Amino acid sequence: MVPVRNIVILTGAGVSAESGIDTFRSAGGLWERHRPEDVATPEAFARDPDLVLAFYDMRRAAIQEKQPNAAHEALARLDAAWPGELLIVTQNIDDLHERAGARRMLHMHGEHLNAWCRACDRRSRWLGPLLDRPPCPQCGAAALRPDVVWFGEMPYRMDEIQAALRRCDLFVSIGTSGAVYPAAGFVRDARDLGARTLELNLEPSQGSAWFHESRLGPATEVVPAWVDEMLGQ
Ligand code: OAD
Repeated sequence: MVPVRNIVILTGAGVSAESGIDTFRSAGGLWERHRPEDVATPEAFARDPDLVLAFYDMRRAAIQEKQPNAAHEALARLDAAWPGELLIVTQNIDDLHERAGARRMLHMHGEHLNAWCRACDRRSRWLGPLLDRPPCPQCGAAALRPDVVWFGEMPYRMDEIQAALRRCDLFVSIGTSGAVYPAAGFVRDARDLGARTLELNLEPSQGSAWFHESRLGPATEVVPAWVDEMLGQ
């Protein structure tokens, strides 16, 4: 087997599940209680902005009470110690990877703790509610929306992600169902370009057959064990 130098890690809601943040598609998950077309599309926001803003205000408040778990901490440890290229691409809009100390990472579906001004197109760190239409700290317009990617919108930083996928020799998917594209297609892109592919998940994902290897179990167990292996500990 070719020695691993460059790694791309894709994470999803399963990595934050044991921190107490609901996943989307598990039994009792977020999309069972709220229809995505009511709260997570540009059309929903145009139709009923109060409903959408209240939904994200609730989630923004909730995630600030959660703490990173052993999986986030293990990935931050790998990021700090890995001598080759490494990129954590998260679909999560929580900030638990950063709070655990990860640095080489990006949020392809946006960030809960950012607000995006539709008037001046700038982003601001935002911890409070948006429902009461606060002014943009940069231009003063009452035009802030959550800085999250909704269905029908383009995920962020795709060029960087594709470039990293082209260079990686190991692609690892952690805690994601493989239901949402383009992230669900990364395993095929990486594999077609010659990378080894590994899945760490509670159960086989929808794209499980594309992975060379699957390790099933809770993220707080399987991720630290894999990181120890990578770091030779
Ligand atoms: P999902 O809810 O679709 O999938 C979560 C995955 O994590 C499932 O495969 C679970 O089996 C697994 N899982 C649950 N608990 C776990 C644990 N403790 N350890 C390991 N794995 C566990 O969430 P995502 O795949 O992240 O997008 O969803 C992808 C996108 O769909 C989200 O970013 C969001 C959503 O709609 C947007 O809102 C644009």
